Amino acid sequence: MSLRGRDIVSIHDLSRDEITALLASARKMVRAAEGGRAPATLAGKIVAMAFFEPSTRTRLSFESAVQRLGGSCLTIADAGATSLRKGESLYDTIRMLSSYADAIVLRHPNEGSARLAARASDRPVINAGDGAGQHPTQTLLDLATIQERFGTLSGLKVVLLGDLKYGRTVHSLAHALAEFGSEIVLSSPPSLRLPEEHRAELQHRGAKLREEPDLPKAVREADVLYVTRIQKERFPDEGEYREVVGSYRIDAPLLAAAKPRLIVMHPLPRAGEIAAEVDATPHAAYFRQAFLAVPVRMALLSALLGPAGRGR
Ligand code: NCD
Repeated sequence: MSLRGRDIVSIHDLSRDEITALLASARKMVRAAEGGRAPATLAGKIVAMAFFEPSTRTRLSFESAVQRLGGSCLTIADAGATSLRKGESLYDTIRMLSSYADAIVLRHPNEGSARLAARASDRPVINAGDGAGQHPTQTLLDLATIQERFGTLSGLKVVLLGDLKYGRTVHSLAHALAEFGSEIVLSSPPSLRLPEEHRAELQHRGAKLREEPDLPKAVREADVLYVTRIQKERFPDEGEYREVVGSYRIDAPLLAAAKPRLIVMHPLPRAGEIAAEVDATPHAAYFRQAFLAVPVRMALLSALLGPAGRGR
């Protein structure tokens, strides 16, 4: 496997073997991500963070990963501070950025923007979220979290809960889970079902996929409960958002009937979908999930940019 120089736009840009190898490499980076000795794999490398949408975890964990490995960052954290404000195209911005940095991490509100950026850049582009499109590196850390708890990614029952229409994290995660042979149970308000294109593709690839709108029932059967935030910013109509806001919430009484080994995950930020009381239960995995972003992104950046033959 060599990921050197590759773009990571969709989860389909990584094979199952490549994902497995990245997760193994990420496990070896955990100590370094905690502040232990880290290899200087990115010494002399510059990674551009081009963030045209709000972000806390994704940008900061990428920056932490780069710096732990001895590299440095160029950061756009506010689109309003760039020449996009003067009418510059994303294509031109990325093309120019690719001559200042060795790789570009892009977050942008438009679906398809990361693919466009990959065409504009002759350096690797990593999609850190393109509108309601994909978020493949979130999937890697989601998988790392599941694997750390269960020792496997196969044969599990994973409930994807919430905004499956606009939530880009589930658009990447569902395909990876299917690839590893876990069962996917979709639970969402009717207006926020997983889009047909994703369903069709999952079915085409033989995924074990079903819907369970009854949340207590879905929770009772689950090994993993992956909760998502309603993506308010993507609703074309505020009224549509108001109809679904607050329609699901995970709290201690709901989890009382869950399997003891159930883990509750969330890409964060949460906006009321998980009660704070869940944090103190053994089910809560979302803060560990947020931490694993660092070793996972260290492993990925090492594989894309590190010395040839290393960083696997
Ligand atoms: C997610 C995103 O931006 O898609 N956050 C993240 O990257 N951890 C989820 C969200 O915003 O709801």
